[in-house]
Amino acid sequence: MSRKIGRNDPCWCGSGKKYKKCHEEFDSRISYFASLGHEVPDHSIIKTPAQIERIKESCKINIAVLDLVAEKIQAGMTTEEIDRIVYDKTTEMGGIPAPLNYEGFPKSVCTSINEVVCHGIPSDKVVIKDGDIINVDASTIYNGYFSDSSRMFCIGNVSDEKKKLVQVTKECVEKGLEMVKPWTFLGDMAQVVHEHAEKNGYKVVREIGGHGVGLEFHEDPWVSYVSNAGEEMLLVPGMIFTIEPMVNMGTDKFIVDKNDGWTVSTKDKLPSAQWEIMVLVTEDGHEVLSY
Ligand code: MF3
Ligand code: CO
Repeated sequence: MSRKIGRNDPCWCGSGKKYKKCHEEFDSRISYFASLGHEVPDHSIIKTPAQIERIKESCKINIAVLDLVAEKIQAGMTTEEIDRIVYDKTTEMGGIPAPLNYEGFPKSVCTSINEVVCHGIPSDKVVIKDGDIINVDASTIYNGYFSDSSRMFCIGNVSDEKKKLVQVTKECVEKGLEMVKPWTFLGDMAQVVHEHAEKNGYKVVREIGGHGVGLEFHEDPWVSYVSNAGEEMLLVPGMIFTIEPMVNMGTDKFIVDKNDGWTVSTKDKLPSAQWEIMVLVTEDGHEVLSY
């Protein structure tokens, strides 16, 4: 329970301005969408300008880490070596790899090869081979602020079929991103993402999605890429979330490795691709914070 904020009280956003001169109109706009039955964001996931600045500092490290992986990754390396590169670069820049010890995850980054959908655990037993497609998913904590993004890498001579999967998945993210603007819905983005995948004969994983991020690793909202226009949470300026669809060449069904409890693979062992960006909803559109 909370007392209704007075019009002359200081705004909840911490600007120091009176509520009536700051977020009052904003809040009544949100209430209007709620009254129509839409899911709407809580104040706790709307970032202030000061928080956004700090989150961007975290993103700088995340981007630098993935840039370095892009430079170094090649056939013959183990995924353990990728983990080492990520750990060293992150800590050298003053950050902490967010996956390390997160709910028991043992490494600093996720490395997901071919049929591995996500959450692949780096290992000195897993060698990156010519023809592989691999997702490297990096997440950083800096001064308590979180960033999260991932990229695909095609190693050496990759089949045209797999190259196309990687390319189309990238396009899914780009097309989804174009839909991100305030006072629209997450489902507007999701529809564009899965329509592009399906048009190319692919399936988007349903049960694993994206998430709000910034003050925590995983915040509300949970982000689906299989929902449709007008569905899911209303977008308002100051929200930050990931666009990270997992796109499968065959079935959207998957299995989780019973031994490690993490590695997610396609049920039919056909390849899966994923790109992840972190996006801020701005007053007139969006800004990509990490990629
Ligand atoms: N980076 C992943 C995401 O996009 C989260 C991985 S959790 C981990 O949400 F523990 F596996 F690292
Ligand atoms: Co994520």
